[in-house]
Amino acid sequence: MTVLNHRILLAERPVGIPGPEHFRADVEPVCPPGPGEIVVASRYISIDPAMRSWIGVGPSYVRQVGIGEPMRAGGIGQVVESRATGFEVGDWVQGRTGWQSHPTLRGDQTQKLDLSVGSVEDWAGPLGTSALTAYFGLMDVGELRPGDTLLVSGAAGGVGQIACQIGQINACRVVGIAGGTEKCRYLAETLKLDAVIDYKAGPDIGAALRRACPDGVDVYFDNVGGEILDAALIVLRMGARVVSCGRISQAGAKEPYGVKNLGALGGKRVRMQGFLVFDYHDRYTEARAFLAHHLRGGRLRQKLHVVKGLDRAPGALAMLFNGGNTGKLVVGVG
Ligand SMILES: NC(=O)c1ccc[n+]([C@@H]2O[C@H](COP(=O)([O-])OP(=O)(O)OC[C@H]3O[C@@H](n4cnc5c(N)ncnc54)[C@H](OP(=O)(O)O)[C@@H]3O)[C@@H](O)[C@H]2O)c1
Repeated sequence: MTVLNHRILLAERPVGIPGPEHFRADVEPVCPPGPGEIVVASRYISIDPAMRSWIGVGPSYVRQVGIGEPMRAGGIGQVVESRATGFEVGDWVQGRTGWQSHPTLRGDQTQKLDLSVGSVEDWAGPLGTSALTAYFGLMDVGELRPGDTLLVSGAAGGVGQIACQIGQINACRVVGIAGGTEKCRYLAETLKLDAVIDYKAGPDIGAALRRACPDGVDVYFDNVGGEILDAALIVLRMGARVVSCGRISQAGAKEPYGVKNLGALGGKRVRMQGFLVFDYHDRYTEARAFLAHHLRGGRLRQKLHVVKGLDRAPGALAMLFNGGNTGKLVVGVG
């Protein structure tokens, strides 16, 4: 029986928020593996805000996905055929699966998962790239210290949930910002943050921040940019650090939001710095050891938000930009 590779291809470049209209489904026989290659049955495919820049009309930090190519994505799956040394049928691996059910991958670009460290779901969530992003953003860029007040936007998302918990593990006072009652309840009652702000509940985010952070903020982990970043700049303390992780609020904006409060940086000697998690590739083992330790100890958890079915990947991507996900968003395949 011929095994088929179901794929989702880029059909058109989105100008604003990407959605199903920008992709098309396709099916082909699985590409037989050459020397050094493996065929993988995808299980979880990561859905990430950066995908928008890989397919949009604007600048991207990596090569853009071509029209008619399978959508690029990281994923986890099980080896079903191997011509690569070190990979056996049945091994769980992570690599560049793309939006494909049975991709053929190079062994030297694919990593075997150590299931003694965490389950397949853990590797998709609290040991995955979003968690590494939170770790390096806070510990390296943010220079987080015990006793700091940590403010996290996008707090109920993939990166945000882990950032909040790394703050708790480091004995910080943690304040989260998220959109909507349900997400805020999760942050307050399940993750037990010190304070939570629902930015969709009222027009004055500045007043809400002053109430939640009466003594100011030492580290602001910024996932969203825009108006929330602007308001956060006002409540920073002397010597604060702003970790510019992402600016998802600007994804579909016709005009970029003009940040007004940058004047607060000088007098308070604030450092604001961007970063890309891939820059820390050589230190992933260090981060995973930390994350796995706290996962085992019960101090780290992560909601995986699974959208079932490869055909629903384009709709899942849109969810990131309308707040439809809580926790790390993945597409479940098979
Ligand atoms: N620097 C790096 O290397 C790196 C690596 C990975 C991710 N990132 C960045 O980290 C951020 C979080 O990524 P993620 O994968 O964990 O996504 P996520 O937080 O799981 O999902 C995106 C969330 O953003 C929020 N959002 C969407 N539009 C918004 C708006 N206009 N204003 C405020 N919030 C808005 C929504 O939550 P609400 O319902 O709460 O609004 C949505 O659920 C993104 O900015 C991403 O680009 C950076």
